[in-house]
Amino acid sequence: MNTLTITWSNGKVKIIDQTRLPTKFQYIYCRDVKTLWHAIRRLSVRGAPALGVAAGFGVLLGIRDFKGSGRKKFNQFLKKTCDYIGSSRPTAVNLFYVLDEMKKVAKSNPDKPVSEIKKLLKQKAMALYEDDRQVCRRMGDFGAALIKNNAHVMTICNAGALATVDYGTALGVMYSAKKKGKKFEVYSCETRPLLQGSRLTTWELLRGGIHTTLICDSMAAMVMRDKGISAVFTGADRIAANGDTANKIGTYSLAVLARYHKVPFYVVAPRSTFDLDITSGKDIPIEQRHKKEVMGFAEQITAPKNVGVFNPAFDVTDNKLIAGIVTERGIIRPPFKSNIKKVFK
Ligand code: MRU
Repeated sequence: MNTLTITWSNGKVKIIDQTRLPTKFQYIYCRDVKTLWHAIRRLSVRGAPALGVAAGFGVLLGIRDFKGSGRKKFNQFLKKTCDYIGSSRPTAVNLFYVLDEMKKVAKSNPDKPVSEIKKLLKQKAMALYEDDRQVCRRMGDFGAALIKNNAHVMTICNAGALATVDYGTALGVMYSAKKKGKKFEVYSCETRPLLQGSRLTTWELLRGGIHTTLICDSMAAMVMRDKGISAVFTGADRIAANGDTANKIGTYSLAVLARYHKVPFYVVAPRSTFDLDITSGKDIPIEQRHKKEVMGFAEQITAPKNVGVFNPAFDVTDNKLIAGIVTERGIIRPPFKSNIKKVFK
């Protein structure tokens, strides 16, 4: 997409407000870390890699409020700022990856004055932003080989330019396939309850000139069987060392359906989405969101007030259901435990 989802602009974080799409294209500007925290929480900026970039910029907003010159106090302030940003959303590990990278800058330069550390932190946040742009293009180029000419493919949620700085992971694969001259059609699951598939994925794919058809999540099985889906591509929020993958709620259902219909199921994600400290998906923290999201549709209430609601934002797909994980270092195939280790050693 030739529009940037998130940028650092004159000391502010400029983001496309994704809660308004597709009806309004509007930027919001975060001038302090609290405003950014709320933008993350309500999903104005969302998607694992974009959350990582937002976290880096959030640190820059936060440390502006540190006025002293003592390094010890600064380090404590930095940690507090990172903990605060980390409390916004628990599942996407990219956010924590970037916060760790930012803390490492301070840790590995213990003798530099605060003014110098602030500069180094800015350089780091900008480098991570630029890295996202390049890494997404590399994944796209590796993954494009998985889309055959005239294929019908399926995706869920939004793992596109809007979930990264400007290119996407799962949708990046589609942009790269298009650049290589392939013709294909994408079926986008609408992604209840917050409709990232219908509001965001269809919007950006159509803008990118990609033939796109919107379906309700409950249509996926029928579409796989009757429309000749040849591959499913999704993003990821956190991948355990054994390949178990957390992604938007509904992803696991798609993977099960894909197995039944003998359709390969691919995850597209950068190194920063791997959490190699956890051995399996059982240890991935799953964000639970407000019940209102399930009890209504736009402004309309669709459930009785007193009903109990279960609203996990993500689910975990068993590595056995995954045919390959497309990364910036190439496509990792099963057995995942050993192959992930080899690729990221
Ligand atoms: O709740 P969201 O919209 O942040 O969920 C996003 C997803 O599940 C994406 O598929 C994932 O972050 C990968 S984005 C490249």
